[in-house]
Amino acid sequence: MKVLVITGSPHKNGTTAALAEQFIAGAKAAGHEVTRFDAAFKQVHPCIACEKCHTADAGCVFKDDMEELNPLLFAADAVAFVSPVYYYTVSAQIKAAIDRFYANDAALYKGKKAVLITAMTDDTMESAEGPNATFKGMFDFLEWENSGILNAAACSTAADLENTEYPKMAYEMGKSL
Ligand SMILES: Cc1cc2nc3c(=O)[nH]c(=O)nc-3n(C[C@H](O)[C@H](O)[C@H](O)COP(=O)(O)O)c2cc1C
Repeated sequence: MKVLVITGSPHKNGTTAALAEQFIAGAKAAGHEVTRFDAAFKQVHPCIACEKCHTADAGCVFKDDMEELNPLLFAADAVAFVSPVYYYTVSAQIKAAIDRFYANDAALYKGKKAVLITAMTDDTMESAEGPNATFKGMFDFLEWENSGILNAAACSTAADLENTEYPKMAYEMGKSL
């Protein structure tokens, strides 16, 4: 399978980067081909709802790094979204890329697996409720198969992952796709 990992953190060595690496290692161990798009290090303009993507043939008016992501998205059999929780949802960086799916949502419909991985400081699940609801709704809307959600609670930094099961859980998520 072709697996696309979209990350949302500006921390190159942060909590979610460590979880993304484990997920990727698991997916590769299962023989999957993995590509990665680190949204926080790309130029992705937020959607401005101009509707040109749905009314003209030229696609989205913004010709930015979505031109790199779109072919990866079309080709992917599975998409993993990996983001820190920012104010009870995912980061703006990953959300900007997701909103731009709007230009191609007919082409993205059906036929993909999807997973969500988040990390957060909260030691309860309260901060995960927003992102989990968002992604469950999005996977339902796109008719993508929900292949799992992992929320790493009480993890403010990558060091907090030590002595937790979260890295192993991320690895197993990748492996069991
Ligand atoms: C702008 C901002 C907002 C945050 N909001 C929340 C939040 O709502 N709930 C929470 O539990 N943690 C919150 N955090 C903490 C991060 O989710 C946490 O430190 C995470 O491990 C960072 O992951 P990263 O290193 O991959 O970026 C926030 C951090 C930042 C910088």
